[in-house]
Amino acid sequence: MMSEPFISIQGLNKTFWGAKRSVVAPVEVLRDIDLSIPQGDIFGIMGFSGAGKSTLLRCLNRLEEPESGSVRIGEHDVCSLSHEQLLVFRRKIGMIFQQFNLLEARTVVGNVSFPLEVAGQRSAERRARVDEILELVGLTDRRDFYPGQLSGGQKQRVGIARALANEPIVLLSDEATSALDPQIALNVLDLLININQRLGLTIVLVTHQIEVIKYACRNVAVLENGRIVERGSVREVLTNPTSETMKVFMQVNSEMTSGGWKEGAGI
Ligand SMILES: Nc1ncnc2c1ncn2[C@@H]1O[C@H](COP(=O)(O)OP(=O)(O)OP(=O)(O)O)[C@@H](O)[C@H]1O
Ligand SMILES: [Mg+2]
Repeated sequence: MMSEPFISIQGLNKTFWGAKRSVVAPVEVLRDIDLSIPQGDIFGIMGFSGAGKSTLLRCLNRLEEPESGSVRIGEHDVCSLSHEQLLVFRRKIGMIFQQFNLLEARTVVGNVSFPLEVAGQRSAERRARVDEILELVGLTDRRDFYPGQLSGGQKQRVGIARALANEPIVLLSDEATSALDPQIALNVLDLLININQRLGLTIVLVTHQIEVIKYACRNVAVLENGRIVERGSVREVLTNPTSETMKVFMQVNSEMTSGGWKEGAGI
């Protein structure tokens, strides 16, 4: 039996109006996106650079305003929220980024506490929540460090802790492991999987790394020039890729893992 999708995107379109040779020309970035994401899933979105992955992710909490279409997350009809409702709703959507986006002048505790302060939580509750969440991401012993004193992996853990502070219903991850060395990236993915399992949190994970999809996701959608060209379980899509994008990704991945130092490479 199919359960109701937790995130449901229908007929989503997004156009940017950019200047091209001094004439304002529309850039169609997302076209007719339909997507259903089950509750508790780790759902991957793949595609080449410029395919529209970040824009799609940002449409989920209206950091980008969709031009048309609908987005539902749980019981929220995201596109019909008023400005005030949107500010409250966004607290329930955690987001992590490749470049961490931490507040450099605040300690780990200060960074994780920040969204709770914005939400108006009282300081005793805040402290308890920060302690709990630092324990969950394994940063208790770094609580008084500043971002400049942390490694990349630790910084991303702070990013994750901050994103989880307000008990989000969804976690959006935009290339969160791309800037990390492979071992630390794996570590951070393990943390995300652990959080998904322990909290049942739905995670939407944007990446251009096939290994990340293979390792962490159950389902995947492939974006090509702003359209979804392929979707399904990770196993299905990786066993039988049909889109050009996925075929190229898999080809490159297989060449990388088979070694590029070949005779006659002309070096
Ligand atoms: N604010 C903007 N104004 C105009 N065009 C934009 C804007 N933001 C993004 N775009 C364009 O939209 C397209 C998709 O961008 P997006 O950042 O969503 O791609 P992406 O798949 O996340 O790429 P990457 O893998 O490089 O992060 C690109 O062609 C980009 O130039
Ligand atoms: Mg992007």
